[in-house]
Amino acid sequence: MQPESIILDCDPGHDDAVALLLALASPEVELVGVTTVSGNQTLDKTTANALRVLEFVDRTDVPVAAGAERPLVREQHVAAHVHGESGLDGPDLPPAQGTPIDRHAIDFIADEIRARDGELTLVPTGPLTNVALLLAIHPDARPRRIVLMGGAIGEGNVTPAAEFNIWADPEAARRVFESGLDVTMIGLDVTHQAVIRPEHSKRLRSSGRVGAMVAELVDFYGKFHGRTYPELGGSPMHDPVALAHVTTPGLVEVGEFAVTVDCSSELGRGRTNVDRRGRNAQPPNAKVGVGIDGDAFVEHLLERLGTL
Ligand code: BDR
Ligand code: CA
Repeated sequence: MQPESIILDCDPGHDDAVALLLALASPEVELVGVTTVSGNQTLDKTTANALRVLEFVDRTDVPVAAGAERPLVREQHVAAHVHGESGLDGPDLPPAQGTPIDRHAIDFIADEIRARDGELTLVPTGPLTNVALLLAIHPDARPRRIVLMGGAIGEGNVTPAAEFNIWADPEAARRVFESGLDVTMIGLDVTHQAVIRPEHSKRLRSSGRVGAMVAELVDFYGKFHGRTYPELGGSPMHDPVALAHVTTPGLVEVGEFAVTVDCSSELGRGRTNVDRRGRNAQPPNAKVGVGIDGDAFVEHLLERLGTL
């Protein structure tokens, strides 16, 4: 089978970095490029971090294109309390040597979609600003599907109502969910079951250079989760689950529902209202992750990272 062409649109970010490594370790996908967006940190930092990770594994052949510097409408808020000042605190990664390509992320994505007659999957793991801009500015460049990390059927993680990626740019997220494209939402309901625990970090640390670096990422990332989510017993690998849903169908169970993004209330800002019971009589507009075998996912992740 031909590998599925993907672009990872991300804001590294500890779990974004792991998603990037998982993509590089997965023969089921061809990573056409990495595009960056402001989110976990400012755009200059998320872009530098994408380059740093690619340089760490000698994959500077993968182009990086920088995208939106701020959300469509809202003020920018970064998540330094989770990801640190660099956006990738923890391991001693050298500063980026390379630079992003001289193209805006959305122009790069549009050309790559057109070059493949639409046969390209977008995997957004940050706020959806770049994707919304792509839809607005290049309406002809429609990806085959979008598999995004964001949202929650249940409790949010930045407010009780909302998950960070959707909360950060709710207007962009609404545009994506209303696009009519094949959209899959991998939300907190499944990613909070995909947890790296101390015993996994121990295995990572002894699995080679990349594993050791990921263990150091998890050491830092785990501090926030230990404080805020002690019941998880480790760090959820949000963004790698979206990637794994592309490489390994069946790992995440999905249902098709109508999803609306709250852009109008302050308390509900960025809430993904997932109509699981058909109460609003709206046709489904998204596939939504509802179940995952968390242990199988973590084994898969560790196994793949061990190949790098
Ligand atoms: C999402 O927000 C970011 O902090 C993570 O990288 C992930 O994409 C989880 O809510
Ligand atoms: Ca992210």
